[in-house]
Amino acid sequence: MDLQAIVDEALDYADHYRGHGALASYIPALAKVDPNKLAIALVTGDGESYAAGDADELFSVQSISKVFTLSLALNQVSAGLWNHVGREPSGSPFNSIVQLEAEKGKPRNPLINAGAIVVCDQLIGSRDADAALDEILAFLRQRCGDRDIGIDMDVALSESRAGNLNRSLAYFVNAFGNLSNPVEEVLSVYFRQCAVAMSCRQLARAALYLAYDGVDPLTGEAVVTPSRARRINALMLTCGHYDNSGDFAFRIGLPGKSGVGGGVLAIVPGTGVMVVWSPGLNAAGTSLAGAVALERLVELTGWSIFV
Ligand code: DON
Repeated sequence: MDLQAIVDEALDYADHYRGHGALASYIPALAKVDPNKLAIALVTGDGESYAAGDADELFSVQSISKVFTLSLALNQVSAGLWNHVGREPSGSPFNSIVQLEAEKGKPRNPLINAGAIVVCDQLIGSRDADAALDEILAFLRQRCGDRDIGIDMDVALSESRAGNLNRSLAYFVNAFGNLSNPVEEVLSVYFRQCAVAMSCRQLARAALYLAYDGVDPLTGEAVVTPSRARRINALMLTCGHYDNSGDFAFRIGLPGKSGVGGGVLAIVPGTGVMVVWSPGLNAAGTSLAGAVALERLVELTGWSIFV
């Protein structure tokens, strides 16, 4: 298969949707991003990478970070994490508070905002917030072999200033005794992890362990156990796009995670990782042109977990 030709063709195909959808203007710093960006990166287990468009340009990873933090938290607290957060799709928007009351402050899954906030709290544990954030950054830098990966502080501050809904979720969870650290400490990790800036190529490289049963195929390092890698993929397939997860599984058929920065991560088990970026979003916060590009990539490669 000529993967470079496939990546080029998928970009061409999605080009028609360039600029479609809405920017995540509820975070003012994200409203300033050029809506016409479009990029694809594909990294395979032999370390080859194929890219088209703005694939080396940094963007705000937003909720894609939740997958990495979940990996670290599972390594830290093991199955005890599931006492604090569930594993069911929510069928609700990523920032919904509705289910939290009926379900007594236990978020449905670790990929919605409330769940990711609980995961941050578990990762902090008895340390301080900065230690947990340092661990997340060190992890991403090591996975990519790139020490320059960092946080866009403009975005982090903008998120915090506009963060009343996330604050409400965190206080609500806290009211049910499901946070062990102060709300603002936990949110300081959550906002900053969402504001990490990475490129499509870096994200694809970083997530390679999820395509290889938890082992980084380029370094041989066991990042998470095989069963954890499979379960993280299962959560991405069922919950990675919130109330759009079913449609994403239907159209693309791969475990994936969206972010309101316009990035979408897609895992191809045993083969590699694809990441697309285009800032215009559909109603569920998934990149509109990005999802089209992924759909085309899957059509052209035949890569689906349902083959
Ligand atoms: O907390 C928020 O609302 C954002 N920092 C992250 C949300 C997000 O990326 C949803 N994903 N598509």
